[in-house]
Amino acid sequence: MTRHGTQAAAATPAHDSALPAGRAGARRATMIADVRDGLSRKQKELPPKYFYDERGSKLFEAITRLPEYYLTRTERRLLGRYAGPLVRALRPRTLVELGAGSAAKTRVLLDAMRDAGCGEHYVPVDVSGEFLAATARRLRAEYPGLRVTPAIADIAVELGLPSNLPHPVLFAFLGSTIGNFDASAAATLLGRVRHAMGPFDRLLLGADLRKDVAVVEAAYNDAQGVTAEFNRNVLHVLNRELGAEFDVERFEHRALYVPARHRIEMHLVSRQEQAVRIPVVGRVTLRQGESIRTEISCKYDRPSIARLLRRSGLALEQWHTDNAGFALAVAMPMP
Ligand code: TRP
Repeated sequence: MTRHGTQAAAATPAHDSALPAGRAGARRATMIADVRDGLSRKQKELPPKYFYDERGSKLFEAITRLPEYYLTRTERRLLGRYAGPLVRALRPRTLVELGAGSAAKTRVLLDAMRDAGCGEHYVPVDVSGEFLAATARRLRAEYPGLRVTPAIADIAVELGLPSNLPHPVLFAFLGSTIGNFDASAAATLLGRVRHAMGPFDRLLLGADLRKDVAVVEAAYNDAQGVTAEFNRNVLHVLNRELGAEFDVERFEHRALYVPARHRIEMHLVSRQEQAVRIPVVGRVTLRQGESIRTEISCKYDRPSIARLLRRSGLALEQWHTDNAGFALAVAMPMP
C-alpha cells in the first residue's frame, strides 16, 4: 500500500503504447492522464467532463428540473423574452451551441430563427457523443430544412467547428457553463470563440449571478439528492471505463460556496481513510474527510462579465437580467 496519494501520479505511463487506437482509445488515454494529474494534486481534482456519460447526462437533465435549481428555469424565461428581438436584429444563418447537451433551450432560439426566416445551419458542440447524436436526430426531425452538424469536442481544448459556416453566426453558450471554468480558462475559451467570429457575429452567454449564499448552495445540494448522485456518477464512470475500484458509497457529496472567489465548489468527501486501486494510474489514498474537487461554478455580476469578455477580445453589447439573479449577455467582437 502506498502512503501518499501523490505516488499514483509518479507511476510511469508504461501501458500507453498498448492502448487501442481510435476515438475510444484516445478518450481512455486522455482520461488516464487527466485522472493521474488530477488525483496527484494537493487538492485532488477530477475534470467535470467525465460526469457526462449517458446516466450522468440524464441526471443533469433531472437537476435542471429541480425546484432548487433556479438557473435553467430563469435562463429559459429570459430567452423567451430576448431571443426574438436578438434574432430579428442579427438574422443569423448559423447557430453554434457550445455544450449543447439535450438542446432543450435551443428550441427557443431555433424557433425564433424559423419565425424570422433566417436559420439554415445548427452546430451543437458537446463532449458527450452519444447524447449529441440523439439530439441531432431529434432536431432534424423537428426542423426539416435545417442542416444539423454535430461536433464532438472538448471545448476546454478546441471548438471543433466545421469550416465555412454561413455568417452571421450566433454563438450560444448557455447554462452558466462558462462558470465551470476558472478565470483564465474561461478567457481562453471565449478567446477561441472570438477567433471564430466574423464582424457581424454575436455571442449569447448565460451567466449565473452572485446572490444569497443559501440560495446558491441549495441549487447544488438539492433535497432529493439528485446532485449528490450526479456528483458521485464520475466515480461510476472511472470504475467502468478504467476498471477503477472506487466504492462510491464511501464518498459524500458536498457543495460549498467560497465567497472570496465568488464560486461554489463541488466535492466528493472521503467518509474514511481509504486506498483506491485504479489500473494503470496506480493506487490513490485518501484521508478521512479529504476531498476530490469535481466542479467549480463561478458566479458573476455585470462588471466581472464585462471584464472577462474584454480579456477575450469581446465587448459587452447587451445585458438582460431579472430578479432571480441570472443574466443573458450579448457580446460582439472588439474591432
Ligand atoms: N453549468 C452548471 C452549473 O454550473 C453545471 C452543474 C449544475 C453542475 N449542477 C451541477 C456541475 C452539479 C456539477 C455538479 O450550474
